[in-house]
Amino acid sequence: MIENTSIAYRAHHLYMDDVPIPELLAHNETPFYVYSLPRVLHNYRRIQQTFALLKPHIHYSAKANANLAVLRALIAAGAGIDAVSMGEIQRALYAGAQPQHVVFAGVGKTLAEIRYALEQGVGWFNVENLLECRLIDAQAQQYGQRARIALRLNPDIQADTHPHIATGHGKAKFGLPAAQIAAILAQQSDYPFLDFAGIHVHIGSQLRSPHATRAAIERALELIAPYPNIRTVNIGGGLPVAYAPNEYVPSWADFADTLTPLLAGYEVLLEPGRAVVADAGLLLTTVLYRKEYAEPAFVICDASMSELLRPALYNAHHEIVPVVRTETAPQPVTLVGPVCESTDVLGTLTYSAQPGDTLAILTAGAYGLVMSSNYNQRPRPAEIVVGADGRTWRVVRRREALDDLLRFES
Ligand code: LLP
Repeated sequence: MIENTSIAYRAHHLYMDDVPIPELLAHNETPFYVYSLPRVLHNYRRIQQTFALLKPHIHYSAKANANLAVLRALIAAGAGIDAVSMGEIQRALYAGAQPQHVVFAGVGKTLAEIRYALEQGVGWFNVENLLECRLIDAQAQQYGQRARIALRLNPDIQADTHPHIATGHGKAKFGLPAAQIAAILAQQSDYPFLDFAGIHVHIGSQLRSPHATRAAIERALELIAPYPNIRTVNIGGGLPVAYAPNEYVPSWADFADTLTPLLAGYEVLLEPGRAVVADAGLLLTTVLYRKEYAEPAFVICDASMSELLRPALYNAHHEIVPVVRTETAPQPVTLVGPVCESTDVLGTLTYSAQPGDTLAILTAGAYGLVMSSNYNQRPRPAEIVVGADGRTWRVVRRREALDDLLRFES
């Protein structure tokens, strides 16, 4: 199992920090998520230290895990927020972020969102469309403000990652081609209410090498070289985490070592999401049934693709371990959920779990609850947080009730 500073066995029981997971199971119905704030803060500080030479402004990417307790802890530790919707901006501000420490990104910002972001006074707009430049300029004029802009480059570079989370190749919907950025920068006076102060580049998530990022940043720097007023480079997120004990991923230091020499003298923004929260979260589930006719056998549990979509959507691997370790002979079984879809497969278990056993799905802190749905009219699960002291825990978002599922209809 991939253990870390917060998630490990003590004797036969799985712990999160000093909290035994069986204690959480005694008080809460499965499925539920639990996050370790000590681990979230540890990851945040480790990123800060790894990139220390660049003194980056870290804007935690709220799309990875937007739980208010997680946001509050990171904001209190000094993080800004990368938001991609009005809802994420609202959440960031509600959790205590200073508006000027929020960057607003997104491929399809609506007029209402642009106005909201201006009203709230967000620090940056990451812009990826010519029409969007015009819209923000016109709206900023109405508000009597200047909006600070980082143009997002589509560098036409293939990141080494899963095709569904690669964003920097020429056929991706993200960013502006270099030629369009050059044209906009050459005509800055067309946008009197925009302050073109930065460039943004993010070529994908769970990156398996820093080299494509280096090439992308080199292209970005060439584009801004003629403009000494552009001193900020936002290099996005994408720092990888290992989802299996034997999985090779480059270290964050590999990224820092490769990118730091390029960026000396610039103000640098980072937007990590997964790296901060993935290995701080577990999804807990209980085994309901088995079906023996298949080879390997199916173990059916009470979590599903409605709670954790990544395996169904990206064929993503999550390690799954028993909450209480017993001596059982290894036997691979397929862990599936109750949802009426053949792709509702959570992964492979290496031992033969029985009805009533509880399991922890690891590395589920990023892109877990945020991507959950009510598919099959399943209530969204609770979220629990282990506090920064490592000893206390509380339910920070209650499980949805049956009535919640009817709330929006009349
Ligand atoms: N900045 C931008 C512009 C992004 O598009 C993203 C992620 C991030 C930062 C944060 O990336 P991270 O550090 O987390 O890699 N749902 C997928 C991942 C989608 C990532 C979307 N953009 C998954 O479950 O793997």
